[in-house]
Amino acid sequence: MEFHFDINQLFSERISILDHNLVASRQSKERPDLQDKIATVVDELGRASAKAQHLPAPITSASKLQSQKHQLYLMKDGESSRGHGVVVGFLKVGYKKLFLLDRNGVHIEAEPLCVLDFYVSELLQRHGYGLELFNFMLQHQNVEPVLMAYDRPSNKLLAFLAKHYSLMQSVPQVNNFVAFEGFFHKRAVAH
Ligand code: ACO
Repeated sequence: MEFHFDINQLFSERISILDHNLVASRQSKERPDLQDKIATVVDELGRASAKAQHLPAPITSASKLQSQKHQLYLMKDGESSRGHGVVVGFLKVGYKKLFLLDRNGVHIEAEPLCVLDFYVSELLQRHGYGLELFNFMLQHQNVEPVLMAYDRPSNKLLAFLAKHYSLMQSVPQVNNFVAFEGFFHKRAVAH
């Protein structure tokens, strides 16, 4: 995803972590003009993700990020676009209080880290960027994929989770979230 401004000026790292402050570096904290550009990037990513998932409206935008306690991992390729950089994609996660059904249909209350939105630019999909983003997030959050919940996962995300993390057996829920077999087992061991 290309922009008419320099992506490398906004995001110094290959993967930046954005939260409600909407800043990606010390420099952008002191520069409202850079923050405006970061907001433009987040809005554009949110729109592209919604389109890819056939959602009626974006679930990610700069204003939503500013008002919620979510974290957004944004990946760039700094060398592309004649050194101006391109945005490769993003992964948004956050804690949610959920009522989930275990294997026996028993309600349990949990507050897992959830995958809320995930998108890799169309032309760059299936090149391993999604895996790099996801693994970065796992390390940063110190969490295992099986202990997370997934908000309305697309077929592509389900294929991704099966391929990279062997997550295949989901436990039926009455909400839009998907949790996998080990979620309940591993929780029970941990508590
Ligand atoms: N069809 C089926 N499976 C796919 C596809 C596809 N078009 N694209 C990716 N995958 C899965 C497959 O398992 C694939 O392995 P394979 O090529 O051997 O079959 C694997 O992902 C590839 O892994 P990566 O290259 O690391 O993943 P990628 O960079 O493509 O990122 C992502 C995965 C984010 C799901 C990307 O495909 C995408 O943006 N899709 C469109 C938006 C979307 O569906 N996002 C998830 C929304 S649901 C939510 O966020 C809770």
